[in-house]
Amino acid sequence: MLSSLRATASRSLTRSLASQQQRGFKCSVLGAAGGIGQPLSLLLKLNPRVTELTCYDVAPVTPGVAADLSHCSSNSKCTGYSGEDLKKALDGCQVVVIPAGVPRKPGMTRDDLFNTNASIVKNLVAACAEACPKACLLIISNPVNSTVPIASEVLKSKGVYDPKKLFGVTTLDVVRARTFIAQAKGLDVNKVTIPVIGGHAGTTIVPLISRAEPKVSFPDAERDALTNRIMFGGDEVLKAKAGGGSATLSMAFAGAEFADKVMAALDGKTGITECTFVESTVTSSKFFSSPVTLGKNGVEQIHGYGEVNAYEQKLINDMLPDLTAQVEKGIKWAQENK
Ligand code: NAD
Ligand code: LMR
Repeated sequence: MLSSLRATASRSLTRSLASQQQRGFKCSVLGAAGGIGQPLSLLLKLNPRVTELTCYDVAPVTPGVAADLSHCSSNSKCTGYSGEDLKKALDGCQVVVIPAGVPRKPGMTRDDLFNTNASIVKNLVAACAEACPKACLLIISNPVNSTVPIASEVLKSKGVYDPKKLFGVTTLDVVRARTFIAQAKGLDVNKVTIPVIGGHAGTTIVPLISRAEPKVSFPDAERDALTNRIMFGGDEVLKAKAGGGSATLSMAFAGAEFADKVMAALDGKTGITECTFVESTVTSSKFFSSPVTLGKNGVEQIHGYGEVNAYEQKLINDMLPDLTAQVEKGIKWAQENK
């Protein structure tokens, strides 16, 4: 009797542990040898949700980067690929993060990267369409406002486009907004939330300070300066690096955070809502970043940006033509460059 009770208890304990156990994900970083790619790969190597990480980059050092990472004592396997081995890296991946491409130099806009990065993103996404058509694709390469629409067109032309699985990573804008607000108000940064909507370039980045939690308020001049700092946070780093590249470490942090949220939701965790640049009907722009609830299949629900004050509504109205033009530029380029 006692032994049968013990057996039943042990079976139910095993079941309960199994139900808590996280699903393992195979992830890939494309552009893994770069300024973002290396720290991002490290953070993903250390993420307990990741059981296999593949690093791909055109740079021949990439297998070496992966060998280096593979010595980290976390429960994931890490392998590196370069050159012609892209599809080997992508085979069976559920999540692919793409920071491949050239970064800005001082004096450049993100749109100045279009001519180089459009083809890089196109070719990498085409390979994803063939090797891992069901994967969630997280696009970091700039100009995000155009590269994400390019990715959607490539996936459509391959017959595998699932808008629920294509994300432009705008998390760095949220990370900056959280950080700057916490600093200004002496708050614990881990308790600050704020939606940052629109796109990922200059004035298309719109922080909704009126919707920050905990509630904060600033005199108009301070609010303007803070909004401007969030919009142009990338330029602040670009200037400070003085020709040595754009944000890499904070982007790796933000990219790893967003990838973790996507994996947690794929794994069945509910209630995860993040701002991300997705195909959207929230505004007249075909792609827009607003709070998105993530789920087992990627995007579960796209939320509107909700109530905003007159100042924020003007920022949105003023930038929408630019954002729309940048989105349309990506779509047109992809349609003309099949
Ligand atoms: P980087 O030059 O340090 O690294 C880019 C890497 O991409 C290099 O290792 C390069 O070899 C690789 N690469 C180039 N072409 C490739 C291809 N076809 N396939 C695979 N790899 C390829 O640049 P970085 O600082 O890491 O920035 C990368 C991109 O991320 C830039 O476009 C930058 O503007 C963008 N970025 C976006 C955000 C964001 O918030 N979304 C933030 C920071 C930077
Ligand atoms: C950023 O916001 O830091 C990135 O988009 C890189 C850049 O070019 O500013």
